[in-house]
Amino acid sequence: MTQTMLRGRILTFRTEPSGPGDESAYFYEEDGAIIMEEGRILACGAYPDLAPLYANASIIDHRPHLLMPGFVDAHLHFPQVQVIASWGAQLLDWLHDYTFPQEALYASKDHAQAMAKAFFDELINHGTTTAAAYCSVHKESADAFFAEASRRNMRMIGGKVMMDRNAIEDVHDTPLSSYEDSKALIKAWHGKGRNLYAITPRFAITSSPEQLGMAQSLVREHPDCFVQTHLSENKDEIALTKQLYPKSKDYLGVYEDYGLLGPKMLLGHCIHLEPREIEVLAETGSKPVFCPTSNLFLGSGLFDDAGLRARGITNLIATDIGGGTSYSMLQTLNEGYKILQLQGQKLDPLRAFYWITHGNAKALGLESMIGTLEAGTEADIVVLDSRATSAMALRMERAENLAHELFILQIMGDDRAVNQTYAAGVAQKH
Ligand code: GUN
Ligand code: ZN
Repeated sequence: MTQTMLRGRILTFRTEPSGPGDESAYFYEEDGAIIMEEGRILACGAYPDLAPLYANASIIDHRPHLLMPGFVDAHLHFPQVQVIASWGAQLLDWLHDYTFPQEALYASKDHAQAMAKAFFDELINHGTTTAAAYCSVHKESADAFFAEASRRNMRMIGGKVMMDRNAIEDVHDTPLSSYEDSKALIKAWHGKGRNLYAITPRFAITSSPEQLGMAQSLVREHPDCFVQTHLSENKDEIALTKQLYPKSKDYLGVYEDYGLLGPKMLLGHCIHLEPREIEVLAETGSKPVFCPTSNLFLGSGLFDDAGLRARGITNLIATDIGGGTSYSMLQTLNEGYKILQLQGQKLDPLRAFYWITHGNAKALGLESMIGTLEAGTEADIVVLDSRATSAMALRMERAENLAHELFILQIMGDDRAVNQTYAAGVAQKH
């Protein structure tokens, strides 16, 4: 059995840090080693302890870099790789002017396949090893997404968007076709290799009541699939949703009425929530996803992380490419830090790095597979260089401890700080 040892500084979180100085929440080893075999982590600890036990392992020496679990991005759009940085609009105009026309191109299998390659290259370059992705309305786009994920043996969550109205014809399905295509995709991909399916009604505006009924059937028939959609991102979006679903109590009430809520439900944005919606999120265990770069870029608003957490709600964090402006979970933390600053909230570096690894993985219910460096879990690992740029190297001269270093990565880091990314034990950057 081939064993590989990665040597370097090692950081992995056991639990969510209770504050900026909570050393009990993580395991850090200055001279550490991770032993990998057949895509899994066999052991993780101090190099002097492990070296004699795994004397036959081939060694890859990453010193002085930092080895962490690969990053988990909880919400982004695969067919928006060429939508990022589209000028001047807020959500609804941005969707109509830029996003829907680009997504229409994914009816072409060739285009979808070419873009899937580019998309996964970007994830890898930015240290992301798991993501929950929206594909386009076309079944072909989800096939291309999962085929590429499988080729790279990456743990991925994805789903074809269900959308039958209020966009452009080229990206409309029907209630029945959305049901049948989703069903076929679940059969083809869910639980195959490392792939997982998310039933994906895009948002209430682009789904008729009949289509949300179909989504409800899918959720009932496939309770082990994820469900993902958008909620309360933008004030015009909320007003239009209320016009379209006048009988529902509020925006979240639409999804509630169709039985879509629960611990597997991931709700992108959740910015302008009403008190009842917050209560229902807490009661049902449904999970908001904070998308900082997108919320700033589209002028959507400020996510109340502390307010939701105080109600016992678990928030995830994500890039939301291509409303989001960077694939980097480090840059996502950077902008997230600033959004919380504007509200008198703090995002300390320990919690930040917990969030994009163990935290997101746990919120997805995947922590026994990904998000830590525990023995037995899948060997998805990112190698970070805290001195990747001259500006970072200069700042690092004054870093006195691990928290300082992590904060420099959190604020100044991006793909340049990602030295290598391993998926299921295989180096992906060449
Ligand atoms: N709401 C519905 N679709 C989208 C999308 O593609 N991006 C964002 N940011 N919000 C949405
Ligand atoms: Zn989104």
